[in-house]
Amino acid sequence: MFRVPVAGLILVASWMVLGAAQQRPGPIDDAALRAPEARAGDWLSYGRDYYEQRFSPLDQISDRNVAQLGLAWQMDTATDRGLEATPLVVDGVMYTTGSWSVTYAVDARTGQQLWKYDPEVHRKYDNLACCDVVNRGAAFYKDKVYVGVLDGRLVALDAKTGRPAWSAVTVDQTQPLTITGAPRIARGKVIIGNGGAEYGARGYVSAYDAETGQLAWRFYTVPGDPSKPQENRALDKALPTWTGDTWWKVGGGGTVWDSIVYDPELNLLYVGTGNGSPWNRHVRSPGGGDNLYLCSILAINPDNGDLVWHYQTTPADTWDYTSVQPMMLADLAWQGRTRKVIMQAPKNGFFYVLDRETGELLAADPYVEVNWATHVDLKTGRPVEVPGAAYKDKGTYIRPGPLGGHNWQAMSYSPTTGLVYIPAQDNGRYYEQPKSFSFRPGEYNLALAAAGRAVEGYDIPSKGRLLAWDPVARKPRWTAEYGNYWNGGTLATAGNLVFQGTAAGDFIAYNATTGEKLWSAYVGTGIVAPPITYEIDGQQYVSVMAGWGGAFPKKFRSVGRLLTYAIGGNATPPLPKLPRRVTALPNAASAADIAAGGKIYSTYCARCHGGATVLPDLRRSTPAVLNGLERILDGSMVERGMPRFAELDKPAVAQLRGYLLDERRKLAASER
Ligand code: HEC
Repeated sequence: MFRVPVAGLILVASWMVLGAAQQRPGPIDDAALRAPEARAGDWLSYGRDYYEQRFSPLDQISDRNVAQLGLAWQMDTATDRGLEATPLVVDGVMYTTGSWSVTYAVDARTGQQLWKYDPEVHRKYDNLACCDVVNRGAAFYKDKVYVGVLDGRLVALDAKTGRPAWSAVTVDQTQPLTITGAPRIARGKVIIGNGGAEYGARGYVSAYDAETGQLAWRFYTVPGDPSKPQENRALDKALPTWTGDTWWKVGGGGTVWDSIVYDPELNLLYVGTGNGSPWNRHVRSPGGGDNLYLCSILAINPDNGDLVWHYQTTPADTWDYTSVQPMMLADLAWQGRTRKVIMQAPKNGFFYVLDRETGELLAADPYVEVNWATHVDLKTGRPVEVPGAAYKDKGTYIRPGPLGGHNWQAMSYSPTTGLVYIPAQDNGRYYEQPKSFSFRPGEYNLALAAAGRAVEGYDIPSKGRLLAWDPVARKPRWTAEYGNYWNGGTLATAGNLVFQGTAAGDFIAYNATTGEKLWSAYVGTGIVAPPITYEIDGQQYVSVMAGWGGAFPKKFRSVGRLLTYAIGGNATPPLPKLPRRVTALPNAASAADIAAGGKIYSTYCARCHGGATVLPDLRRSTPAVLNGLERILDGSMVERGMPRFAELDKPAVAQLRGYLLDERRKLAASER
């Protein structure tokens, strides 16, 4: 494997880049995927190569000249929803995905669209997808592009034409299950999971034959109905770690909605698993138990789907601490010898380093504020929970909250600086035992009490940072602070640079060693996707998809674009025209009612919805939401963090609506 931790070798890498571009090496088969150094100018797979470090050896754009970076081209995706994809670049063509799983092939020199594939997902998924109609990218193998579609299909497209070669339905489409993650390729198989645990789901990961679309194997991450035989021995072992009879009816959870990493050296597939379904462990598994294999890193044999080892980051999860967050492989100098490691910063706030041959825990250290566990015991490999953190008898405020100290936004690692660049964030949540629980199919099933009872002290997440973490010294080296959380993924390059976009719409380059901000461009739209870099005919480019969305899609208006920068590009490109998004609605309220409604709004609502946070701007809510205010204020959204307001009676709600409709009218006029 190509890992050059020595700065002096970077010159060699540049020379190889030139050679690679001229030679046009052969097809993207297993050998090509295992030898990314032969295609240093390309970006072949989700994390750039099988190590998923998102580190590019390209150094034409560097800490010396990045200030001259400008826009080379942009492509309008004609969407206003979240864009999360990592584009791929193969032989001068960029393949990327957008909202509603639409897939694009673009000339990577000019931005000219070559083809577009729209899987025509039913718009009912707008309500079925927990976290926006996003897609994190495609996979490329031989002559095909593979994309997971929001409605659960896995589609293989002819790379030249964009025409479907095959399509497989990977989920029970009568259930609210969705695919947002990027497929991965391992030895002729396409690997994919799905999301949906909030609605009640049993997690699994599947492997399909890349050529034919035949299902090769499926690994369930949690046991099924205990009265029936389990699908494999790993599940027989997991079964005694579950108690009661709620979990398997609800599904148990453990969905595989993001990170899957293939290790060709060890022939292991690492799969990150999600939270429990429902969230609350006292409801899910009332007699205790670790609930294997929730919130775990699983090492699976990609040839047959057998479990080889597992490590559970959060035994008996009860806070939505998924371990699906991006994982990366590295060979690190560790206490006098080289260890083959896997690294992850899951939602629970600890940064993990594991030996990836055995699953042995080497390090687990808090990378954000953590109050649910005092530490992780390296001998037992288990977190030591703070008494009361599991809110059995009394509600409590826990950090991180369900959005995690880090979410799906990719991190990167520079072998030159030895630092991992994490899009980290602050957040917390109040968790409280519900009075009762009954499973409601098709709705959120968290099994938590109404957040409204703890409105005081319900602290809304507000900040994020780029965190440069030293995995060997086990501590931060530098940070760049942001006023918003939910910022973009990161890219590290041999030019001693780290790139990241922000929720506020800035695309920024930092000195990878020191954290000094060297360049930034305001793009007019929040960025959550991770950037990539590539090289064609001796010119290095940096690309990123701009379009804010995901878990909180409503604050920023978004004009989806694929942006590509190069040295000497346009320094001040025109900003996109934001579309008019709201129209005035009829409003029968009197001026006095509107004024009274304004008082109610500022007393009860403004601190969460007033724009200082990423929560919805109520002026932009749909007419259906505004007409249904009574239901929402009566508690229909408590499990999403919207409190119940029993004290607001019917006339008060009418005044509130009158005020919101009036504010909407003003906004619509200002957007004209
Ligand atoms: C403690 C914070 C908090 C307070 C206070 C609060 N909300 Fe919310 N509200 C939320 C959260 C969290 C959501 C859910 C966001 C999501 O899941 O998209 C939400 C969602 C909503 C929605 C749905 C918006 C949409 O377009 O989908 C409405 C309507 C709403 N709140 C109205 C109100 C009103 C009216 C008040 C004041 C009486 C209020 N909220 C006070 C946190 C709060």
